[in-house]
Amino acid sequence: MEKRKLGRGNLEVSALGLGCMGMSFSYGVVHDENEMISLMHKAVDLGVNFFDTAEVYGPFTNEVLVGKALAPIRDKVVIATKFGFNMKPDGSPGWLGLNSRPEHIKLVADASLKRMNIESIDLFYQHRVDPDVPIEDVAGAVKDLIQAGKVKHFGLSEAGAQTIRRAHAVQPVTALQSEYSLWWRKPEAEILPTLEELGIGMVPYSPLGKGFLTGKMDDTTELGKTDFRSQLPRFSTEARKANQSFVNLLGDIAKQKGATPAQIALAWLLAQKPWIVPIPGTTKLSRLEENIGAASLKLSVADLAEINDAISRVPVEGDRYPEHLEKMTGR
Ligand SMILES: NC(=O)c1ccc[n+]([C@@H]2O[C@H](COP(=O)([O-])OP(=O)(O)OC[C@H]3O[C@@H](n4cnc5c(N)ncnc54)[C@H](OP(=O)(O)O)[C@@H]3O)[C@@H](O)[C@H]2O)c1
Repeated sequence: MEKRKLGRGNLEVSALGLGCMGMSFSYGVVHDENEMISLMHKAVDLGVNFFDTAEVYGPFTNEVLVGKALAPIRDKVVIATKFGFNMKPDGSPGWLGLNSRPEHIKLVADASLKRMNIESIDLFYQHRVDPDVPIEDVAGAVKDLIQAGKVKHFGLSEAGAQTIRRAHAVQPVTALQSEYSLWWRKPEAEILPTLEELGIGMVPYSPLGKGFLTGKMDDTTELGKTDFRSQLPRFSTEARKANQSFVNLLGDIAKQKGATPAQIALAWLLAQKPWIVPIPGTTKLSRLEENIGAASLKLSVADLAEINDAISRVPVEGDRYPEHLEKMTGR
């Protein structure tokens, strides 16, 4: 698979990474450990070298799983994880608020390294900006970790443009991981130009719209109570019904291109900038292969114009996050 470079430090990764969250968190199913380990190994065989996890996924269990799969093939992979929350004392899912105090970041780095059984974290993202801690202090803490050899690159997630600039002035930021997809294009206004100016890579999360853009879900799909999407306005039954026309359109475009809707959604992101590296998540080998196919699907300028024109005519129904979660972004 084509390689791409993130940030001025030239972190080289496969054009598509693999989001590992859904293997043990968020979608209400904890998948079989051995199956997920062999899926990650298969991804490496197919050219994927960029894997995404976070302390909060589980919590902790996703990092343990990723470490178990990838520590034995450490030299072949780039491992990204995230800090920034206080976990519940009983280790149950969820968190007790943000915490990016420098001393906490350093404890989390040590704990993540231990859990994954690796010597350094390739890319360490702040998961959400903590309004109680100046970003300069966060960047300073990660700089110390880099100097100590425990971290290689610094990242932010869902940070606002001013925060990105301030952080970058203290410790160069290699990548911003934020939601970006055919149905969430807000980063185009201010964030992408800022990243381009500063030479920071973009890692779009939920590039498949948390599954909806693949056309494999509709308003009849049962979302269990423990499936995070059941809390999202964009996944209410009414919103899914309304958004069906968006996915149908994507299906028509895909048919014309001899591709699948998931491949169009990923190829569209890849075509936006050469420093964009989406991290679709899947727990299934057939879908991993399908998604990887997007890396060799080239969309022409005319294709992109046609897609942009068509999708701009279809309004998307429902907020991506409920208010309390949206408030944690763009700060
Ligand atoms: N920084 C952040 O705040 C943040 C937030 C969310 C996610 N993330 C990261 O981004 C990664 C990806 O995001 P995401 O999981 O939210 O959304 P996503 O990648 O847009 O979608 C994942 C969903 O799509 C399904 N899927 C994947 N490929 C498919 C295909 N070809 N056809 C049909 N269904 C398909 C998956 O189900 P199956 O497993 O059944 O295939 C899963 O339910 C996560 O794993 C995580 O590492 C980061």
